[in-house]
Amino acid sequence: MMKLAMSFALLASLVTALPPLCLAASANTNGGFLYPQFYDHTCPKAQQIVWSGVAKAHAKDPRMAASLLRLHFHDCFVKGCDASVLLDSSGTFLSEKRSHANLNSARGFEVIDEIKFALEKECPLTVSCADILALAARDSTVLTGGPYWAVPLGRRDSLGASLSGSNNNIPAPNNTLPTIITKFKLQGLDLVDLVALLGSHTIGDARCTSFRQRLYNQTGNGLPDGTLNAAYAAELRARCPRSGGDQNLFFLDPVSPFKFDNQYYKNIVAGKGLLNSDQILFTRSAATMALVEQYANNNELFFDHFAKSIVKMGNIAPLTGSRGEIREHCRKVNHH
Ligand code: HEM
Ligand SMILES: *[C@@H]1O[C@H](CO)[C@@H](O)[C@H](O)[C@H]1NC(C)=O
Ligand SMILES: *[C@@H]1O[C@H](CO)[C@@H](O)[C@H](O)[C@H]1NC(C)=O
Repeated sequence: MMKLAMSFALLASLVTALPPLCLAASANTNGGFLYPQFYDHTCPKAQQIVWSGVAKAHAKDPRMAASLLRLHFHDCFVKGCDASVLLDSSGTFLSEKRSHANLNSARGFEVIDEIKFALEKECPLTVSCADILALAARDSTVLTGGPYWAVPLGRRDSLGASLSGSNNNIPAPNNTLPTIITKFKLQGLDLVDLVALLGSHTIGDARCTSFRQRLYNQTGNGLPDGTLNAAYAAELRARCPRSGGDQNLFFLDPVSPFKFDNQYYKNIVAGKGLLNSDQILFTRSAATMALVEQYANNNELFFDHFAKSIVKMGNIAPLTGSRGEIREHCRKVNHH
């Protein structure tokens, strides 16, 4: 009996250690594949080092979990999950950090630097910055009470960035729902992915400038005036005036701003979605409305869909094999 159990354990570990070849072929469009055990032999402590770095940063600044989760999204939507978002401007390209979505907004770069430094000490030129972002997104989710998932790994880092890609591909909070749906579709993500991934807005902050438009004179942008809960709107106007206070911060989920849960969907059902892009999930399409209601009523379903969809997002056009490189510093490409 013992022997049987032992050999089963051995078999199970062998099976899980093998790259999922057959599934992988369809996992992304570039023929490469990712799998969670990618660093098991080359850098066995990789996941532990990322976890410690994220945990330390989160303990110092509880918002950091949200910021790191968002970085993975802003990376993947521009040229795939290749850490292009982390590059500073150079002689050959402009940094994505200057895009509409990222300027005065994206944060967490120092945390990634610190994690990369620790990884370089442990196993030089082995763990990609793109994989650090994917792991940090998972760890941030877990640290704030959200679901765990095994992160497929083996992404390599880009040799460039795309400022225009960052401006064009990442949805804006005043985009219409059809525009947002199209931007997700272009990345291979469907309606379920869209609604589930937007549940990320259960943590973190937005600046006044990201939603002011809907407090004053919103016209024809997908949200009929009055859909925003009146008391909530008054509260927001107090610290987000008609002009000035652009950088004032507001919780995306004021009920439980540091907890990864389904409160975001409950807020939307109550007419208290902070961004126009949040609220229109409920007001502009029966299909997304039904998903919002399901997630508001079923946290487990939300967690299950979120984990599946973020793995899917993490699979957007990764560089694998000999494409790209493993950067030594996440902010710049290696010397060639
Ligand atoms: C329709 C799609 C989306 C739109 C329009 C959108 C828009 C925004 C905006 C405007 C902010 C506030 C930025 C600021 O004012 O500084 C924000 C924050 C955030 N977003 Fe999204 N987002 C979208 C999808 C996503 C997805 C797919 C994720 C993650 C998978 C995500 C994660 C976050 C997080 C965690 C924050 C808070 C960041 C922090 O506190 O540093 N968002 N988003
Ligand atoms: C969306 O917001 C941007 C930035 O504030 C603004 O330039 C643009 O005109 C807005 N678009 C619409 C359709 O309101
Ligand atoms: C909306 O804009 C019009 C003119 O642009 C202005 O007269 C009106 O007071 C504004 N309404 C609100 C609620 O801000």
